Amino acid sequence: SLQKRFGPLVGSIDESSNCARFFIFAAETAEMLTYHQTDIKTIYPKEGWIEQNPIEILNAVRNCIEIAVENLKELDIDPADIQTIGITNQRETVIVWDKFTGEPLYNAVVWMDIRNTEIVQHFISKSKRNNLEFLKPICGLPISTYFSALKLRWLIDNIPEVKKAVIEKRCLFGNIDSWLIWNLTGGINNGVHVTDVTNASCTMLMNLSSLKWDPVLLRFFDIPLEILPNIRSSSEIYGYVLDKLLHGVPISGCLGDQQAALVGQMCFKKGQIKNTYGTSCFLLYNTGKTKIYSDHGLLTTVAYQFGPKSQPMYALEGSVSVAGTALSWLKNNLNIFEDFNNLPRLPPKSSTDLYFVPAFCGLNAPYWCPEARSVMFGLNENTQKSDILRATLEAICYQTRDLLEALAKDCGESCVRKLLIDGNMACNDYLMQLLADIIGVPVVRPIMTETTALGAAIAAGSAEGIKVWDVDKVQPSPSDVFHPLISKNERDLKYYKWKMAVNKSLDWEI
Ligand code: G3P
Repeated sequence: SLQKRFGPLVGSIDESSNCARFFIFAAETAEMLTYHQTDIKTIYPKEGWIEQNPIEILNAVRNCIEIAVENLKELDIDPADIQTIGITNQRETVIVWDKFTGEPLYNAVVWMDIRNTEIVQHFISKSKRNNLEFLKPICGLPISTYFSALKLRWLIDNIPEVKKAVIEKRCLFGNIDSWLIWNLTGGINNGVHVTDVTNASCTMLMNLSSLKWDPVLLRFFDIPLEILPNIRSSSEIYGYVLDKLLHGVPISGCLGDQQAALVGQMCFKKGQIKNTYGTSCFLLYNTGKTKIYSDHGLLTTVAYQFGPKSQPMYALEGSVSVAGTALSWLKNNLNIFEDFNNLPRLPPKSSTDLYFVPAFCGLNAPYWCPEARSVMFGLNENTQKSDILRATLEAICYQTRDLLEALAKDCGESCVRKLLIDGNMACNDYLMQLLADIIGVPVVRPIMTETTALGAAIAAGSAEGIKVWDVDKVQPSPSDVFHPLISKNERDLKYYKWKMAVNKSLDWEI
């Protein structure tokens, strides 16, 4: 029967910055059988404030599971073959909720939100010589608006409901992974309150060596330990689904979405590197068992830990907050094009010298400057919509080059021989060719670009007690390769001008 043909199945929840999705994979072939996606609204109450409704997120996930399971039945495949579920999620985003009622105490504060800028300044000033990197030896991260610790601090300081719940010991904190796992495993009825090492490493509260909440960090940010989830590995059984649908199915994989993409791209070897192009863009470079601390604006993070007794693998990360968002802005606010999948044809060479730095919420890696402002440099009376579109696509590529330059300084000139890419913008051939031209190494795109969901499924399927997925045997999917076509001189000159534009963006003082 068809059921036999596909063997054990693994589900994967992928909750990203703008939508929830549920995928179902066949473990034997890594084939994606079906999925469903539900969009999630983002709320912008004030400049720099970015929120989502935690209940909407949860309902969207449940809705995706329901419809994907329906799809599966229509394919004549038995949903009972789903042996386990993995979760991957937008990282750093903070949810606080009441453990007795299950109600969120505030909206989710999304990772891009910069309302805590003042608190960040306060904490930086507590360090010697205003050094924002002084906690890096413990957690691998600079003090920034981005990480969960300071978003949580803001909530406790500014939302009386949250403060009260903390004092009355009713408050639970989590990133999206913890919120989903807690709810799916029963919520107020003994839901498990856990996170994994990759998500925890983006909170700025975990010690990168012990993989535990760090007492020095908790004291520094004044965060009570009892509100935090238990930190577990990325691949083990955390609990069992209590919902009617998929009742009793274990949840056995959990990874932040960028780490999941690294796994889904099969970057299990030291030196392998991927970049995911979505609303934002995130580059992860596998550094194996070694933690490398960047002197050039990259983060040190846990790449994955497959099982509680396994060695954690580490990565260097470059996070760029605006990539696809800049294109959405062109589409929605400026009406420059209608459909990302059908962008207007652009000439292979640019006719103008236009540079656009889309610093919509400051600049993250490698600059870490929340005060940076967007600039467009080189406008003239001949500038067309198409020039602005091209400058925006190029900005995505230059930002990638910024990260690769930082990586080369940290790990050696020739550390990157090719770049594996994924994310929804990776489907655009024109952008991928620009990227290869600007970074000067081949860009490799797998045919199956849902690597994030695949990564979480692999983690779930290879957990102790499940073992339907043998990590060593999963083959990377076939890929398209884009080779650089412009000369080194041309690429370097263009990049030099980009850096000049970035300097203008950084130099914004009131
Ligand atoms: O660090 C934030 C990141 O995990 C968000 O990823 O794909 O949801 O934009 P994405």
